[in-house]
Amino acid sequence: MEKKRKIVVTSALPYANGDIHIGHLVEYIQTDFWVRFQKMRGNECVYVCADDTHGTPIMIRARKEGITPEELIARSHTQHLKDFTDFQIKFDNYYTTNSPENKALSEEIYKAAEAKGYITRKTTPQLYCEKCKMFLPDRFVKGVCPKCGAEGQYGDSCDKCGSTYAAEELGSPKCTTCGSSPVVKDSEHLYYELEPQHDYLEKWIPDHTTSDVSNKLLEWFKEPLRGWCISRDAPYFGFEIPGFKDKYFYVWVDAPVGYIASLKNAGKFEMWNDPEVELYHFIGKDIIRFHCLFWPGMLNAAGFKGPTKVFVHGFLTVNGEKMSKSKGTFVSARTYLDNLPPEALRYYYAAKLGGTTDDMDLNLSDFVQRVNSDLVGKITNIASRASQMLQKKLGGKLGSMDEDGRGLVQKCIDAGETIAKHYEDRKFNQAVVEICRLADAANEYFDKREPWKSIKTDEEITRTALTSALNAFRIIAIYLSPILPEYAKKAMKLFGENEWSWQSSKEAKENCALGEYEYLASRIDIKQVEAMVEAAKVRPGESGEVSHESRASKNKGNEGIGKREEGIEKREVEPLKAEIAFPDFEKLDLRVGVVESCEIVPKSSKLLKFVLDAGALGKRTIFSGIRQAYPQPQDLVGKEVVFVANLAPRKMSVGVSEGMILFAGEPGQSGGVVSPLDCAFGGTQVT
Ligand code: MSP
Ligand code: ZN
Repeated sequence: MEKKRKIVVTSALPYANGDIHIGHLVEYIQTDFWVRFQKMRGNECVYVCADDTHGTPIMIRARKEGITPEELIARSHTQHLKDFTDFQIKFDNYYTTNSPENKALSEEIYKAAEAKGYITRKTTPQLYCEKCKMFLPDRFVKGVCPKCGAEGQYGDSCDKCGSTYAAEELGSPKCTTCGSSPVVKDSEHLYYELEPQHDYLEKWIPDHTTSDVSNKLLEWFKEPLRGWCISRDAPYFGFEIPGFKDKYFYVWVDAPVGYIASLKNAGKFEMWNDPEVELYHFIGKDIIRFHCLFWPGMLNAAGFKGPTKVFVHGFLTVNGEKMSKSKGTFVSARTYLDNLPPEALRYYYAAKLGGTTDDMDLNLSDFVQRVNSDLVGKITNIASRASQMLQKKLGGKLGSMDEDGRGLVQKCIDAGETIAKHYEDRKFNQAVVEICRLADAANEYFDKREPWKSIKTDEEITRTALTSALNAFRIIAIYLSPILPEYAKKAMKLFGENEWSWQSSKEAKENCALGEYEYLASRIDIKQVEAMVEAAKVRPGESGEVSHESRASKNKGNEGIGKREEGIEKREVEPLKAEIAFPDFEKLDLRVGVVESCEIVPKSSKLLKFVLDAGALGKRTIFSGIRQAYPQPQDLVGKEVVFVANLAPRKMSVGVSEGMILFAGEPGQSGGVVSPLDCAFGGTQVT
């Protein structure tokens, strides 16, 4: 028996001022898969989370609704937890950042930094609204862009020209809450200096994040690290900073501390600093710098252990586009649940998630098709066909398997460790591929045995066939349990069992009674999806309020240290190149080649040297500047790639390049080579 691991897992704490939506669920659902998998493997795994309750947007929202922030966050807590529970996401503790544990821990961590001399003070000019009696965060002021003159731009950056600036630079600024013109006023702020931990963090980051994340972060280490502003002026909903009046911790100070507070509230505080315990944060790529820079710095300075690894995922797009309120693709968890079963989304997300920072697309027609053809048509069908026939015609008694059937079941058992490895690596899509392969084999067996025919002539032969098919299904359902826990529970009952561990897949059920068949999953209809989209549509004018939520998902991605924002990030969009005419496109001769070798080019940080086997065209050597996307280039060997075959050879310092390999995505960050095989699987995962 392997040693039982001790693991603490977190998902980022959702803001309390908005509903949980299908974008958030990408994170909570995958964390739940991973946690359930760890528990099934017999590991001690504690999954903690909480609502992130502090900050200006929550205060303003409560004001607008005429309630106290405490009332608002209590309401959100109930709703969020209900949404999560209905999506079968199971926390060991779901707490709040507005707690006594969190206040005490935040103060402790702050005081430790202060004692080390990491906290400095600076006076900076800021926009102040005399009417609202508050300093305005960047996102609570709009005005004319100082660079391009576009109107109605927020205080941090311009949507039209993309430039970034300080809010005080805006022309004719207006408070977004009351519309009046703010004044510039000086205020003293506290900064958490990171430079003293420059060397520590530079070493820490590559060890605790994946290479794409660390490469990006390490760019900042060429220069001294800037401090980040950790204070906010009253009025603010949050924790007051010890030793100051009317100064509060910026929400991003006490938010991550909320992880520890939630663990403490669960009675498991000692796990945090236990050297034997592994600690993992699941986060979206918009909040990398908070988790991989500020947070490990804060923890280290205070003598706390940092995360073992930070797992970063990409963003959800719907039908290839950003979620949109007007198109009805900004779907709240509740609106989804009003129209569709949670299993369908869990299954689809699993089928698409590959443990990378790539964005993930929910294509609504593909969603319907995949759920119906794979989950219902392929997997569930085995159980419903076999168990119903066994119940109706053979008294519901399982017999013994024959050699053929044992072979099938053994195949399922043998796949267990491969599938487990995929779960462990968060390659849920690969786990699903393997599971579907097993289901294919089970269906093939079933069809070959033609029990619907043999039942008329030989009951025992039929019983044997059904017993084998059902045993194969049982193992498949065990492997699916982290993804579909409720489904697995019903399947368990069918076999008269109360609990499954990963180990349960190693046994077979023979010569015993089958339980009642409860329907496991039903087909979904595109009409349900259409109804959901219709219900999610916000017509122009309906949502005048600038919700924190919508902005957040619109503007994720960019990193820059030390800006004073409310945790709302800007997403960098690669500008499109100039339009080309069809004849230009037609000139390209695109061919498929198989990667014969792929190596790092010495002394180059970008280049990979490929040798492609291009069939009739022979071998091609191509240099491609995509090394950052492939830290382990040998993984590409054997892969089919698309390349431009008629590009004029180009002499480079390292050799002659005979073509160009197609790459899609953001070079050096996410994306990958274009491969016909990946397209055939409909996957987003390219490495
Ligand atoms: N409150 C902060 C996190 C504090 S953690 C100490 C926050 N909240 S959030 O509600 O905006 O986002 C919560 C998580 O959901 C983040 O990891 C974020 O990346 C993720 N997502 C939010 N919108 C998302 C998509 N559209 N797609 C995928 N993940 C998304 O950030
Ligand atoms: Zn105002």
